[in-house]
Amino acid sequence: MINKVGVVGAGLMGSEIALVFALAAKDVLLSDNSEPALARAKSKLEGILQRGVGRGFYEADQIGPTLARINTTTDLGEYADRDMVIEAVYEDESVKAKLFEALDRIVPAHCIIASNTSSISITALSSHVSAQRRGCFVGTHFFSPVSRMKLVEVIPAMDTSEETVQTAIAVCGEAGKTAIKVKDVVGFAVNRVLHALVIEAVRLVEEGVATPQDIDLACKLGLGHPIGPFQLLDATQNSLSLQVQGILHDAYGERFKPRPLLKQMVQAGYNGKKSGRGWYRYDDNG
Ligand SMILES: NC(=O)c1ccc[n+]([C@@H]2O[C@H](COP(=O)([O-])OP(=O)(O)OC[C@H]3O[C@@H](n4cnc5c(N)ncnc54)[C@H](O)[C@@H]3O)[C@@H](O)[C@H]2O)c1
Repeated sequence: MINKVGVVGAGLMGSEIALVFALAAKDVLLSDNSEPALARAKSKLEGILQRGVGRGFYEADQIGPTLARINTTTDLGEYADRDMVIEAVYEDESVKAKLFEALDRIVPAHCIIASNTSSISITALSSHVSAQRRGCFVGTHFFSPVSRMKLVEVIPAMDTSEETVQTAIAVCGEAGKTAIKVKDVVGFAVNRVLHALVIEAVRLVEEGVATPQDIDLACKLGLGHPIGPFQLLDATQNSLSLQVQGILHDAYGERFKPRPLLKQMVQAGYNGKKSGRGWYRYDDNG
């Protein structure tokens, strides 16, 4: 039974991973490099809860107790009592490696160490913990925004025990998520399906078959998707998709080759919502 959850990295993903476990009544310890980063995360989570009350997702009297269950620290030494620690730091193997080496020395023998990486091999990451810990090392790939998206991909590394996989699936279930077990392959399952779709959608625009707006409508009204591929590209930034497609292309070849038009969009600085223009216009000229 996992009661004490640790989350390392209080950015976009880690902060909301902490939130969903706190909502599931877990004792959560969230860490980052600095106190200001942790204060920003706590205030962001308060905002998510408050807006969620307005939309009927949460009860107003949940806010205080949920936030109170998320303790914060900049000292990894405080993870000595955790049952599971989920890593959500930068997508950089050397940063993650240092963290896993340190955590392995601190957390108790039964503690599961999980990574939220989206593109690094879980087996490669597991090489940064001791041989005794490898049975308890697993990938748990959450989706953004974690407070809303229901899926988690649970990815065993080469030496991960089935008990660890089942415990990870169960605890994600307690946090309101549905977990699927996926092999440790590049892109896992969801990003392979997504980018096959996105690449074809951009190809359709290049060929003049339909506009981005109409392809978004086609996916929403014809396929039942909640959001179209171009809206998704704009929301998550074109440059990130280009980067992911580069990784998939290296692993699988031609079928994931990024389309020239996506590259051009990035080169032009039309990166999506945050930059004011992507496949749609978000500035005053739009
Ligand atoms: N952004 C997404 O949509 C998404 C989706 C799924 C998975 N992921 C993965 O989740 C992880 C985190 O991504 P993110 O988007 O939340 O990044 P982010 O940049 O928003 O947050 C990372 C946080 O980690 C902190 N950090 C860095 N090194 C640290 C260390 N050694 N100790 C403690 N804290 C440290 C940073 O200060 C920052 O607050 C990455 O591996 C990413 O690939 C991201």
